[in-house]
Amino acid sequence: MRTPALAQKVTPILIGNALDSDAADVVALYRRTLEEGAWFITYPDEFRGTEQWQAKIIREWNTETNSRFMVARVDGQIVGAISITGGNKERTHHVGNIEVFVAQDVRGRGVGRALMAAAILWAQSNPILRKLGLHVFEDNTRAVALYQQLGFVVEGRLEAEFQEIDGSFRNDLVMALRV
Ligand SMILES: CC(C)(COP(=O)(O)OP(=O)(O)OC[C@H]1O[C@@H](n2cnc3c(N)ncnc32)[C@H](O)[C@@H]1OP(=O)(O)O)[C@@H](O)C(=O)NCCC(=O)NCCS
Repeated sequence: MRTPALAQKVTPILIGNALDSDAADVVALYRRTLEEGAWFITYPDEFRGTEQWQAKIIREWNTETNSRFMVARVDGQIVGAISITGGNKERTHHVGNIEVFVAQDVRGRGVGRALMAAAILWAQSNPILRKLGLHVFEDNTRAVALYQQLGFVVEGRLEAEFQEIDGSFRNDLVMALRV
């Protein structure tokens, strides 16, 4: 008989392209992540995303040749998402920019790694993409550690790039992986 801990560990994380019908869950999860106030440059009251907007992005990204929008499901529930936004100009087509987020209550259980691994695999098999890039707050140690473990390197560090409401500054790391 499985122990509860083991049962939790083997619950499969399913990664797949997002569907139009996932838009409401994705936008709600993104908004909850923004409300944590720590990980993305947008404050919740600056975010204008709606279910329709998200559905349009999911549709467009998953029909573009160099973009993708994927979600992670556990027990049928969306627990995370990742977007790869490919450049839309001749000189930038080969670069896909990554944004990833995981529901707070399931962090630390492999969902972020699974999303990143799926995005990297997809990018490696894509004939246009040659590089994945991302921006991350330097103090987001969890995210930085994950990216480094997957082979991303720091290409640049923008000091005091962001200013918090209390006046303090935060640094931006530019990270990338050649695929
Ligand atoms: C960053 C994020 C996507 C990682 O997803 P996750 O599901 O928590 O990560 P995983 O469980 O797959 O862990 C992957 C790695 O992250 C790091 N990590 C996970 N939890 C950690 C913690 N509490 N402290 C430090 N590092 C941690 C480890 O390197 C871990 O690898 P390991 O399991 O071999 O130790 C997720 O924490 C998140 O959504 N954070 C808020 C939004 C965000 O920061 N997005 C990225 C903006 S650039």
